[in-house]
Amino acid sequence: MRRSVLLGTGSALPERAVSNLELAEQVDTSDEWIVERTGIRNRHIAGEGETTGSLAVAAARQALAAAGIEAKAIDLIIVATATPDQTFPATATSVQHMLGCNGGIAFDVAAVCSGFLYALGVADSMLRTGMATRALVIGAETFSRILDWEDRATCVLFGDGAGAIVLEARNSDDADAPGVLVTKLHADGAYNELLYVDGGPATTGTVGKLRMKGREVFRHAVTNLSDVLRETLDEAGIEVSDLDWLVPHQANGRILDATARKLRMAPEKVVVTVDRHANTSAASVPLALDAAVRDGRIKPGQLIMLEAMGGGFTWGASLIRV
Ligand code: UT7
Repeated sequence: MRRSVLLGTGSALPERAVSNLELAEQVDTSDEWIVERTGIRNRHIAGEGETTGSLAVAAARQALAAAGIEAKAIDLIIVATATPDQTFPATATSVQHMLGCNGGIAFDVAAVCSGFLYALGVADSMLRTGMATRALVIGAETFSRILDWEDRATCVLFGDGAGAIVLEARNSDDADAPGVLVTKLHADGAYNELLYVDGGPATTGTVGKLRMKGREVFRHAVTNLSDVLRETLDEAGIEVSDLDWLVPHQANGRILDATARKLRMAPEKVVVTVDRHANTSAASVPLALDAAVRDGRIKPGQLIMLEAMGGGFTWGASLIRV
């Protein structure tokens, strides 16, 4: 039995932190509204010289250090992002070059807020089939650069950052051995117009700005997330109570609460970082994962569940023994 084992995690945030109060000086909003409707108190915004690629490299270096692995040992890099440094080449290729591990496989995955789950699913498949041995899976975003800063309904919700993990393919006969156990991914393109960017190279020739019908996305998020969590638990043949931690996409504190309630999951088992980072799209799950590993909540041997939902719609979940 070949499994993709999590060896280390890392993260990076832009230097500049922006509070709700600071935002309220620029747009017609308030700290009270943002905290009550979303749970967000703070986000980090990329400054000059900070890009999706530079944040991805910083997170990757931390993950490599935590794993005790040299960059040269990595033969697969997947960067999940909707805000690449350039339309092409893939940000993953510049990350590879900046890390100095040229020659292996490197590409980006575009599944917006579910991007990290999609990248994890692809990396796990490639490791288990022997196409690669050691992978860096990174979620990295600079959403501040595709926000309409005059649209208060969206600009207060997002932040920038990156999170990374190192996975290694290992063989074991032990059913309880660490590794990615089950990953379930879905997409439904019928919902494109509820969450999208109004530009692109093949349409407007511009990058475009993020547009979202928040209330409708919210409704779908709770249903899709609880369904895919249930599907993943069922495939693994386990109960919610067997999970040590749920590490969800951090879009809105109320979505986290509603999903946990629907699953009857104890709220203290849910990792929450939305207050500190806001919604960092593909970076949000690995940022939350790294926070809970570094503060000692997630420990070796535990069972954790990752989940996310975003534009497309796309959504997914992954069960991992750490
Ligand atoms: O990561 C991808 C997935 N994305 C998500 O999961 C996001 C899902 N959606 C949400 O998190 C929530 O729907 C929002 C946080 C976006 C909005 O919360 P809501 O409770 O659904 O509010 P709403 O959009 O229905 O707006 C309620 C009111 C409106 O005013 P009226 O029409 O009731 O007078 C808005 O104009 O709040 C107003 N409003 C604001 N007020 C102050 C909207 N944005 C703001 C703001 N500050 N920033």
